Amino acid sequence: MDTASAHASAASAADAGAAADAAAAADAAALPRQPSFSRRVRATDPPVIAKTKAIIAASGRAADVTSLAQGVVFWGPPRAALRAAAAATAAALSDASGAAAAALNSYGPTPGLPALRDALKRELAGRGLTGYAPVVTPGANCAFTVALLAICDEGDSVALFRPVYFNHRMSVQMTGGGRHIVTGPLRTDLRPDLDWLEEALGLGQSRGRQPKEDGGSGGGERGGGREGGGRAAGGPPKVVVLVNPANPTGVLLTRAELDRAAALTAAAGAWLVIDNT
Ligand SMILES: Cc1ncc(COP(=O)(O)O)c(C=O)c1O
Repeated sequence: MDTASAHASAASAADAGAAADAAAAADAAALPRQPSFSRRVRATDPPVIAKTKAIIAASGRAADVTSLAQGVVFWGPPRAALRAAAAATAAALSDASGAAAAALNSYGPTPGLPALRDALKRELAGRGLTGYAPVVTPGANCAFTVALLAICDEGDSVALFRPVYFNHRMSVQMTGGGRHIVTGPLRTDLRPDLDWLEEALGLGQSRGRQPKEDGGSGGGERGGGREGGGRAAGGPPKVVVLVNPANPTGVLLTRAELDRAAALTAAAGAWLVIDNT
């Protein structure tokens, strides 16, 4: 693409973005007066995928666009799972007492079905990972949000690495920690900067120097903390998040990087959360 058409595309994308924003504002204005959402939710970034879809739709050229914004599986569930679901449904249908149907229709155990958790434990043990208690969630974003709720208070700071996976930033914002996000700088090789992490955790040569806050909004990708912001009020990160392979870069972490991140967080008494989705 030459420079002129690149500028033209950028301008039409900006126009399309403005049109999408205007349409959203008009929709909101058409709503009946309603109580406001929580400050946490209002301070949460809009999902970038919805915004990308709105820009594509508003461009009027959706047929010309191949969006790489979201990958969705194109295969169905395993046949064994389909057979098990069919067998459970058939058993419920033929049970005149209704007990089997009622059992299918009730809450299951919150951490997941025991048989599934046992199978996951066996799978982990087969890879040399014992002593784990897997918890089953409907997807990785749910698991991440549940983990944050379990380990993070509102004033704690959370370290994310640039380019940040947008749903992680949103989860921190939604659970109240948006003001205390600190972000590792973007290295030219796109790998997480573990030297920065060592400093941020107060373990480096300049011990006690705290990272700057990201501010948790807008998703700027400059790196090294909040744009123009002060030191993290939340102190050194209590939670450090790695994504492996990284989304959106696809960078795969080495064993040495994972071991170093684990050793640093253990030494600092911080949680290391790794999203392997
Ligand atoms: C790093 C990462 N975490 C979470 C998700 C979302 O996972 P789920 O759909 O299981 O919630 C994705 C999806 O691409 C991802 O790349």
